[in-house]
Amino acid sequence: MTARPPVSGSLRNRLVLTLIGGAAVLTVLLFFTVRNYATQIAQQGQDNILGASAAAILDSASIRDGQIDVDIPYSAFSMLATPSDDCVFYAIYQDDVFLSGYKALVPERGASDRGGVYKTATFEGMEVRLVTVSRTLIGAEQRRQLHVVLAQTQDALSETLDQISRNAALLGVGFFSLAVLLSVWATSTTIGPLKRLADSVTRRGPQDLSPFAKPVPSEMVPLVSSLNSLMGRLDQSLGQSEDFIAEAAHRVRTPLATVRSYAEATLQRVDREENRNAVRSMIRAIDESSRAASQLLDHAMITFRADHLDRQTIDLGELVGELVTRLTPLAEMKDLELNLRAEKGVVCSGDPILIQNAVRNLIDNALKYSPSESSVDIVIAAEPRPHVCISDQGPGFPPDEVGKLAARFARGRNAEGTIGSGLGLTIAEDVATAHGGELTLSNLAGGGACVTLSF
Ligand SMILES: Nc1ncnc2c1ncn2[C@@H]1O[C@H](COP(=O)(O)OP(=O)(O)OP(=O)(O)O)[C@@H](O)[C@H]1O
Ligand SMILES: [Mg+2]
Repeated sequence: MTARPPVSGSLRNRLVLTLIGGAAVLTVLLFFTVRNYATQIAQQGQDNILGASAAAILDSASIRDGQIDVDIPYSAFSMLATPSDDCVFYAIYQDDVFLSGYKALVPERGASDRGGVYKTATFEGMEVRLVTVSRTLIGAEQRRQLHVVLAQTQDALSETLDQISRNAALLGVGFFSLAVLLSVWATSTTIGPLKRLADSVTRRGPQDLSPFAKPVPSEMVPLVSSLNSLMGRLDQSLGQSEDFIAEAAHRVRTPLATVRSYAEATLQRVDREENRNAVRSMIRAIDESSRAASQLLDHAMITFRADHLDRQTIDLGELVGELVTRLTPLAEMKDLELNLRAEKGVVCSGDPILIQNAVRNLIDNALKYSPSESSVDIVIAAEPRPHVCISDQGPGFPPDEVGKLAARFARGRNAEGTIGSGLGLTIAEDVATAHGGELTLSNLAGGGACVTLSF
């Protein structure tokens, strides 16, 4: 059984979200940078025209007969014309004395012959850009300081800025969409080798514990090295377990067989009936132990192999036929007939050693629990799914116990006096489960047990 490890988020999602988050921050930065830069340039353009217009007014000023004379040229205002019909205000001051225009426009300090002072302010409830320029006029005997204040509303500029903002936003959306696509692509490319490694582990057969040899990115080398070393250790320990099972079977069965042959020999030599009975009990106990050891080891082997199922395509007729040939002498000793009826070409995918072991246990039961001079029928068919059905003419399963007999060490009432360990049906059921199939126990209408092992 494979246990799914606890999941802590997804690498792909984390990577995509980080990249998209980064792209979103960059997009916002890009939007504000483009907009600020464009605002500065547009503002600079308006300032230049305002400055030129104010300078034109200053240029038209002169001192005539001790009086300052300003003849505002038409071009000074015409150059300020905008598509949004922005309003223009002006004021002219001689030193600190108001001469003409809007008196509420006050000149800014700091303007000189060298340059004007620019400022954004509110005038008559409207936002305006304002410039103050100054010039020193020199007459016959006087010096006069002339200040010109020129203000213009910013409707055209706002419209230009709105347009720029819309374009910058479109640019941002385009950049962001491209970044999202690139993030998804970059993530798939990065995660790709990890996914390929996982696929190649999943595709492997249970017996394939060879190391991964395909090249992997350097960051994955520690992971693959650890996996390779784990599989190396697993391979070694699996080999050891198989050897251990074989060795243990040998070690337990061989001395028991020796003890049994000594007991048999002793039985030949003993004359007194009570001693003969004692030796017979001894032989029976040895048979019980031997059977139990044998079944326990088979069960251990089956548990081990079921976890590492070695699936092959098996012809069920051939496999069971071999078994029937091997068991026929045993059946004949009990005057029992083994009848095999197999449909041709019934195949299933599974471990032949496990399936043979399961069927052997079922035939073994039929031979053990049926009366002599009866027959055991073994039927192999493909429909509804590949199955082996073994029926006998014995007493059948005790009806009230039938549901529990496949449990470990469970033996029925009818098994009293018969050697057995209660593991045969457990083994058969474990094999069926490992192959995704099932074991069904039932009694025939005319008497006798019927066991079906299906795959
Ligand atoms: N063909 C059969 N006819 C009647 N009873 C059966 C048959 N097969 C099994 N049983 C009953 O089911 C019980 C469990 O069978 P199972 O094969 O698991 O154990 P066992 O035969 O007693 O011991 P062993 O592990 O040596 O096979 C048996 O003890 C017997 O009571
Ligand atoms: Mg049995």
